Amino acid sequence: MNDFGKELQVRQVTKSFVSGGQPIEVLKGVDLTVESGASVSIRGESGSGKTTLLNIIAGLETADSGTVSLNGLRIESLSESKLALVRGKEVGMVFQAYHLIPELDVAENVLLPARIVGLMGRPQRDRALELLKKVGLGDRLHSSPSQLSGGEKQRVALARALMNRPALILADEPTGNLDEKTAKGVIGLIFDICRDENSSLVMVTHNPNFAAKTDRQLLLHNGLLTNIVK
Ligand SMILES: Nc1ncnc2c1ncn2[C@@H]1O[C@H](COP(=O)(O)OP(=O)(O)OP(=O)(O)O)[C@@H](O)[C@H]1O
Ligand SMILES: [Mg+2]
Repeated sequence: MNDFGKELQVRQVTKSFVSGGQPIEVLKGVDLTVESGASVSIRGESGSGKTTLLNIIAGLETADSGTVSLNGLRIESLSESKLALVRGKEVGMVFQAYHLIPELDVAENVLLPARIVGLMGRPQRDRALELLKKVGLGDRLHSSPSQLSGGEKQRVALARALMNRPALILADEPTGNLDEKTAKGVIGLIFDICRDENSSLVMVTHNPNFAAKTDRQLLLHNGLLTNIVK
């Protein structure tokens, strides 16, 4: 199959864990294609493997079998250092639990992906400020994450995910801990920025209204992804 022009291709990915001495098969042959600039949402019960799948796509966990290609590049064939570079440049991640670095202030957290790929100049600082303004935190550059509310932390995490203009954004319940109004704001920002920068989006969400905003709605159930017919 020709990978050209496809931002993300997941083929027959399987993953098992051993828990309490028992093997659990979490992913049983997951297929997913997300075209450049397209968006998909993934729903599924707690423990169905959504975070595991996103971690495998990001190369943070390895699949037992199957392949993941980012822009035609098979991530399982890359060395650790090459993978870290590709992840840093091509993938922006928004986690379930923010994962901000407590020792760094807001601006430094947003700049982190640029630092990881070795870019630390004026254009990066300008971009960080622009993003923080976009998420409504332009006046909190030097706050510590511990001084922020949940919604503010998630908006910093979103700005950080977008720092390097990633081709692919992986968002794991990005509004899970937010009130409805703040959640709507964060979701609006994610879609605005994906559209402005032609990023692809894979978003785990339990909110059917947010899922309905994506091009395709998927369900992870019994280790497989299926389309939810609208
Ligand atoms: N490192 C691990 N070791 C053992 N089991 C694991 C590990 N990571 C995940 N699991 C198990 O794999 C299953 C899927 O976990 P995962 O975190 O992917 O679920 P999820 O769909 O994201 O759930 P939630 O909606 O609660 O976030 C769970 O049963 C979990 O206990
Ligand atoms: Mg999860």
